[in-house]
Amino acid sequence: MHVDLLVEHATELVTCASQGGPKRGPAMDDVGIIHDGAVAVHRGRIVAVGTTAQVRERITAAHRVIDARGHSVIPGLVDPHTHVVWAGERAAEFEMRLKGATYLEIFQAGGGILRTVRDTRAASLDDLVLQTRERLDRMLLAGTTTAEAKSGYGLDEETELKMLDAIRALDESHPIDLVPTFLGAHAIPPEYRDRPDDYVDFLVEEMIPKVAALQYRVEETDEEGNLVYGGYERAAWFCDVFCERGAFNLEQTIRILQAAKAAGMDLKVHVDEFEPSLGAVPVAVEMGAISVDHLVSTPEEHLRVLAASDTAAIGLPGTPFGLAECEYTKGRHIIDLGGILAIATDINPGTSWCESMPMMMALATRYMGLTPAEALNAATINAAYAIKMHPFVGSIEEGKQGDLVILDVPDYRHLSYRYGGNLVHTVVKKGRVVVEDHTLVGST
Ligand code: NIG
Ligand code: FE
Repeated sequence: MHVDLLVEHATELVTCASQGGPKRGPAMDDVGIIHDGAVAVHRGRIVAVGTTAQVRERITAAHRVIDARGHSVIPGLVDPHTHVVWAGERAAEFEMRLKGATYLEIFQAGGGILRTVRDTRAASLDDLVLQTRERLDRMLLAGTTTAEAKSGYGLDEETELKMLDAIRALDESHPIDLVPTFLGAHAIPPEYRDRPDDYVDFLVEEMIPKVAALQYRVEETDEEGNLVYGGYERAAWFCDVFCERGAFNLEQTIRILQAAKAAGMDLKVHVDEFEPSLGAVPVAVEMGAISVDHLVSTPEEHLRVLAASDTAAIGLPGTPFGLAECEYTKGRHIIDLGGILAIATDINPGTSWCESMPMMMALATRYMGLTPAEALNAATINAAYAIKMHPFVGSIEEGKQGDLVILDVPDYRHLSYRYGGNLVHTVVKKGRVVVEDHTLVGST
């Protein structure tokens, strides 16, 4: 067989193979290493995986061959929780926090999320795309090939739809695949400051039904320009709610989740980021949420309910780190309880402006108690599960997309061990080399 791309002689090919579902418990500590490994990609998909000798028996020629001797090859990283679309920045608030103001104080005084809402409302679609593209480039350079992206800095119909348009435009034009989430329930907008329940009514009665029904035409062509896929995709796959004091309370969260579920959307919840929400985790689990995220102050009995379910737990270690707080998601405990643990950057201008999943792995190993293997599985196969992308990405297995990262080093553990630099040498997205020698290939 003749293929588009063959990566061979990898000192280690780290597959993160899971035969289907996410990983739990002891399986998290296994990353499925093949020594002197090879992987072949054709028409964007992985067609052979094994030792170089095994793959070479089936693959006789390739348009491009990469010799990965001396390198570790891992699956493209998946970032399952991002607020990557926004305009502006909040360095002044960062400085205020360093001088003693808390995140919730700044938020409740009309700064924080609402500051970024003002900037995002004022930005044109083109400007929003331009500012976001820069961050996506950095994410790609750090090995991320698939990411979730939330709206939530509009909080009015026009700007929420503009954010979803930006996500779609970037998904089409940038190598990173983006999975869209509607986060109209990120904060109470200033117009509704004194009547928050009216905003919840607006979300439940108008925005959610509208967003749930909104679809885009998606087309994919091969290298010769032939149409290989054509269909319609939802403008938002998930509906998310920030359930926290000062944002949405439990009762409001339930109303929003119920409306989204009734409209056919999958669910996600920001929960227990700062204070225990008194019940959002069991409610979300009961409603079949795909993931619950943050979980810094979640009580033990709720972690047990979560771990026994199919809802993924997403730890966001960049957030306590970014806020200089000492408490992190109890990742070790969630794995030991048998839960499905993933990690993400939460990239946003307030709590965690970090494009790098390897940095999250460095933090998760130190502050969430994960091993380097658990951190890699949490950033690949389980992260893919947390955005319903595991049938397509998150591991190096036949049939999945040809999304690969080639490291500078022969040992994947260095991704967690070292931090602050970038060990990602080459990135392959759907069989195409998009980063080479730490540099973007062509214009993204
Ligand atoms: O996940 N918690 C709410 N949203 C973000 C912060 C967003 C912001 O500060 O702009 C988070 O931490
Ligand atoms: Fe978030």
